Amino acid sequence: MYTALFHTHRLVVSIFLALYFIKMILLLMNKKEQLTNFRKWTKVPEIIVSTLFLVTGIWMLILKPTMSIFQVIKLAAVVAAIPCGVIGFVRGNKILGVLSFVLIVAAYGLAEMGKKFVQKVDLGPEIVTDIDAKEYDQLRHGEALYREYCKSCHGPDGKLGLGGAYDLATSRLSDSDAMTIMMNGKGTMPGFKQVLTQRDADAVLEYIKTLRTE
Ligand code: HEC
Repeated sequence: MYTALFHTHRLVVSIFLALYFIKMILLLMNKKEQLTNFRKWTKVPEIIVSTLFLVTGIWMLILKPTMSIFQVIKLAAVVAAIPCGVIGFVRGNKILGVLSFVLIVAAYGLAEMGKKFVQKVDLGPEIVTDIDAKEYDQLRHGEALYREYCKSCHGPDGKLGLGGAYDLATSRLSDSDAMTIMMNGKGTMPGFKQVLTQRDADAVLEYIKTLRTE
């Protein structure tokens, strides 16, 4: 569900950007008449595209309410771009037209960056992370990391499936495949290699295997 939404959102955003780009070029080239005509022809498709743009975006936000700082800035950029675009293209104001296009492109870039960016969290003193310590417990360590980094999508038992996340209870991937996905990410799942050491990752892997049923 979420994956379908995500792909639809990406597609409509691309169409929206393409329309904006053409309008901006016409505006910059002082092709007033063509710009007016183009706006007339694309009026209905643009209403459809921008409605889908907003509906899919808001829907995804509802399904996954935790927002990163990137998403907050992205949303602000999109919200600011719309009035700039309307005024820019209707009144033929080049600065506002370009500004609006730049804001939308920046928002798109931020969305892509945000996916790659995972903030490192400190597990606090209760969790022993030194594998040489006597009281080190790999599953406890793995569980604590899982709670911080994975639970938001995979859920406490691995079955939540938010954002199209695979069910970890029925996953039968080999250790090395699961490790690769965890470190490098896949689809809408971010990679965790910037925040997990190999030992951390080993602990998470051992922990997620305990979520497997059967
Ligand atoms: C932003 C949501 C999100 C977060 C956070 C997340 N995942 Fe995922 N995970 C996914 C998605 C989506 C997939 C499916 C990827 C695909 O194949 O397209 C997935 C797939 C997986 C798979 C592959 C399962 C299979 O059988 O194919 C593993 C293993 C996994 N995640 C482990 C983790 C671990 C461990 C963490 C935390 C370190 C984590 N995930 C954090 C979304 C997430």
